[in-house]
Amino acid sequence: ASAASTLGAAAAESGRYFGAATNSFMLNRQPHATVLNREFNSIVAENEMKWYHTEPNQNQFNFTAGDQLIAHARARGMTVRGHTLVWHAQQPQWAQNMSGTALRNAMINHINRVAGHWRGQIHSWDVVNEAFADGGSGGRRDSNLQRTGNDWIEVAFRTARAADPNAKLCYNDYNTDGINAKSTGIYNMVRDFKARGVPIDCVGLQSHLGTSLDPTYQQNIQRFADLGVDVQITELDIQQGGNQANMYGQVTRACLAVARCTGITVWGVLDPDSWRTGAN
Ligand code: XIL
Repeated sequence: ASAASTLGAAAAESGRYFGAATNSFMLNRQPHATVLNREFNSIVAENEMKWYHTEPNQNQFNFTAGDQLIAHARARGMTVRGHTLVWHAQQPQWAQNMSGTALRNAMINHINRVAGHWRGQIHSWDVVNEAFADGGSGGRRDSNLQRTGNDWIEVAFRTARAADPNAKLCYNDYNTDGINAKSTGIYNMVRDFKARGVPIDCVGLQSHLGTSLDPTYQQNIQRFADLGVDVQITELDIQQGGNQANMYGQVTRACLAVARCTGITVWGVLDPDSWRTGAN
């Protein structure tokens, strides 16, 4: 809570949002809810807006948990990040079993229905999550979505823009926190999208971090901003150890130093809730 209040104050003072990942169950659990409502002005669903949750069976949609999260946020003047429309992971089984044109059409329908349902209520959507490969290739990750054709990402962004014209549309990924082959692959895609008029407004740096911060962290944020997109720190959490508090400070200062770095979200509210149970 004290870390949250320090980061939150820094972000709020500069007009940036400060968000937390949570779920509809936690909205009414203590002390989670008190900290969330006191320290944050943005919420994202840790899991409840993902494909497996929102469309458990093809063309049968479940918006209950997401609706609860949004109602909670709106009642308190908080904004909501949408996470995530398309991703290779946490797909419903029926989509995992699909390929080719059927999968492409299912993806388009999913975006239309989900972004359409929450049209006008989402500050930023992670339209596509984690589509690039780790390591030195700078290329795409193999997945059932990637095998539908390299244009699947731009199709997803165009579909999302039509479904919710007021949401900022983000590409979101991890291990992209410094200047490296993976972040450069994404940089090249964003540059290409901007050149060809594919709608993209923001890049999310997940920032699941270890025990030191890449020295090019701020420079990396800056180079994306210079392409004409916003940057958001979307899933910040930092491994425990001597440097943890210092690194939260470094990340916050790097974001504050770049005008187009518009907000920071931490992935969870209380340490015991963290998905990184081993290291944290
Ligand atoms: C994680 C959740 O925190 C876990 O509860 C779930 O079991 C797996 O997914 N990158 C993302 C997030 O974009 O959606 C992931 O969230 C963490 C990594």
